[in-house]
Amino acid sequence: MKNLKNALLLKQLYLLKQLGYNYTSVNAFKEEEPDLTLPNTLEKLQKQAHECHLCDLSKSRTQVVFGEGNTSATLMFVGEAPGATEDSSGKPFTGNSGELLTKMIENVLELSRSDVYITNMVKCRPRDNAAPTPVEAHTCQPYLLKQIELIEPKIIVALGATAYHYLSGDDSPIAKIRGTVHEKNGYTLIPTYHPAYLLRNPSAKKEVFEDLKMIKSLLA
Ligand code: URA
Repeated sequence: MKNLKNALLLKQLYLLKQLGYNYTSVNAFKEEEPDLTLPNTLEKLQKQAHECHLCDLSKSRTQVVFGEGNTSATLMFVGEAPGATEDSSGKPFTGNSGELLTKMIENVLELSRSDVYITNMVKCRPRDNAAPTPVEAHTCQPYLLKQIELIEPKIIVALGATAYHYLSGDDSPIAKIRGTVHEKNGYTLIPTYHPAYLLRNPSAKKEVFEDLKMIKSLLA
């Protein structure tokens, strides 16, 4: 898979840079190429993610947080990265942000958490709850892209700027872009505020309420 190959190449280039190289003629994939195709079932993909050591986050994680929910969901939520609670539970959005996300799903969309699929851009917890670095995000991205390919959701809600940025390539501020509808290859991408932002800025809940009402009408 091209993304995974690029991620491995990027990882090797960063390693060489750390060792002091500014230029290299080394062709990382000149010799026998490893099998870089990701599995075509979610179970096997999850197993592969659980054994992943492609970036530094694997050194400090307690658990890989792959994602959970309806594996044929029409609606998928993508957050940024697991926090401390998720790192310990192994499930996405199980802390305070998760509690709010669950309320949003149940009270506004009138769905249950098990009706939708919930995952993150990055599957392992960044240290000190930092935002994932571009290398970490790009290294992990093939897992998310494969989850999307296998689940085939109709709508993906990007929770916050990081998820939206890596799914769209657009780094517009979330305040400007939230609630907008983007037709992607095979699904509709809708960015909204991250629940953690709402916990810090409760007045923004009314905008998310509007976004969710619109999502509900698109699902009908
Ligand atoms: N924040 C996220 O982005 N994802 C989680 O799973 C939890 C908190």
